[in-house]
Amino acid sequence: REPRGVELLPDEVMLNIFSYLNPKELCSIAQVSKRWNAIAMDGSNWKIIRPVQWFRGVWSCQDRMDVDQEEASLEQAEFYPLDVKFDEDADVDESEESDDIDEMSQQWKLVQRESRLLTSMVKYLFPRVGASVSELHLGYSRGLSNGVLYRMLSCCPNLEVLDLTQTRVSDIGFKSMGKNKCGRRLKHVNLSGCVNITDVTLQRISLALGSLTESKTTPQNKDSDNTASMPISEARGCCQQGMCRSQQERRIGGLDFDSVDQTLRNACDVVEREMMAYRLMEILEGESVFSPLLELSLLPSLMRDQPRTIDFKKWTKKTSGPCDQTSKSVDSRTLNSSTRGNQELFPFHCVTSNRYNSSGNTHLRTNLSSERSPRQRTVPSLERVSGGDPHRTSSCGGRSVVHEVCDKSDNDTPQRALTFLSLSGCSLVTDEGLRFLAGEGGLPHLEHLDLSGCMQVTAAGLTELVSACGSLDHAHLFYCDNMVDDPYAVTASGCQNLEISSRKCCRSGF
Ligand code: FES
Repeated sequence: REPRGVELLPDEVMLNIFSYLNPKELCSIAQVSKRWNAIAMDGSNWKIIRPVQWFRGVWSCQDRMDVDQEEASLEQAEFYPLDVKFDEDADVDESEESDDIDEMSQQWKLVQRESRLLTSMVKYLFPRVGASVSELHLGYSRGLSNGVLYRMLSCCPNLEVLDLTQTRVSDIGFKSMGKNKCGRRLKHVNLSGCVNITDVTLQRISLALGSLTESKTTPQNKDSDNTASMPISEARGCCQQGMCRSQQERRIGGLDFDSVDQTLRNACDVVEREMMAYRLMEILEGESVFSPLLELSLLPSLMRDQPRTIDFKKWTKKTSGPCDQTSKSVDSRTLNSSTRGNQELFPFHCVTSNRYNSSGNTHLRTNLSSERSPRQRTVPSLERVSGGDPHRTSSCGGRSVVHEVCDKSDNDTPQRALTFLSLSGCSLVTDEGLRFLAGEGGLPHLEHLDLSGCMQVTAAGLTELVSACGSLDHAHLFYCDNMVDDPYAVTASGCQNLEISSRKCCRSGF
């Protein structure tokens, strides 16, 4: 059929037009055609992600959360305490919901709906645009879980701004930090009100930021780092060289490899498989089995590449790696009736379609490498960091771009470029956590540090961190007013939590 009307416009013009659309509109037009789908899902349209704001009907990438909305979130938080757990993978059939409507409160339903929005984004949006996401704003989310956060961070190797204010996430959600260079580019981290955060999270963030003191890295640590960041091609090469072939290595931490393989095959969709792999990683943490553990650590990444065709047995048969296989169309089970029923509110499943597996997205990025819109976008960062080689993604489909970007951009990644860190209300943080941040060369670019409500932090830990932050402005340094032997009593600002009822503070009694 001959192209007509708007179809005659070049990709550059179409991308410029689409840049004025909000996320919901982009998801809608992505259903029009294969070409529109590729343009709408271009990474330049998805640099800033604000799911919480979008859930409230404000479909903008700019910050439109007003004070009233934040207060509403806090009221909701009182109804829904941070330590409450719920099943994020629960059946979301509308008919079942309607049956239970009398038993569930309106607030609880809102939490579930928000959780479904986030899950939809993790399933269908982040695997496509995650490499381009630089800002992720999840503050005041009540539906955010550790699993969702883990998968989001895994998809965003170029993340610079992470806002998790007043959420219930804990250390588990940060497990992907440091893997595949995730978190290496972070500049702004806001964990205010995350009461479940401990020193472990600070350690993971510090490791993810890299090291300014190479000499401190022991050979053992280097091996460990190489394992976590090894490109997929290298990992596949290891397997093909026979490193995974022995029967002994086919047992993973006491689990039979074939059983694991079969269980993963039986999982109904990619997210379920990815979650299972994630839980296996948790079980195996600390195991010394190199090859199988390497495979497991790469499972989530590989599943994003070829979610329907992963065949783990092929690795041991030395035939071909997952990326050599041909993509299949999207499994219809993922587009079940309940998902379609939520299309109006949660349009993100629409970004995945049969058309999605085309190479049109890659082609678009190649053509637009020098294009600049009136908004001065820095598009398509993807081909810039991958050397503009369109063939690198052709064999694996569009999703592999995430990992190619991650591998290739390492040389350009700034080390420990964090400028803003807020741990206000993180009462479980201790001096040990601050020492992790002070290690590896400290945080030379840090300008703002908020430790209000961190009542376990002492003068020793604070001094160690502040002395490692050469750019820190003491006017932007906040911590407990009642600290014994306060080292910065004259220059630093006081605790900010006294008037914030939702944050821990020794003076407010909370
Ligand atoms: Fe001590 Fe706020 S935590 S004054």
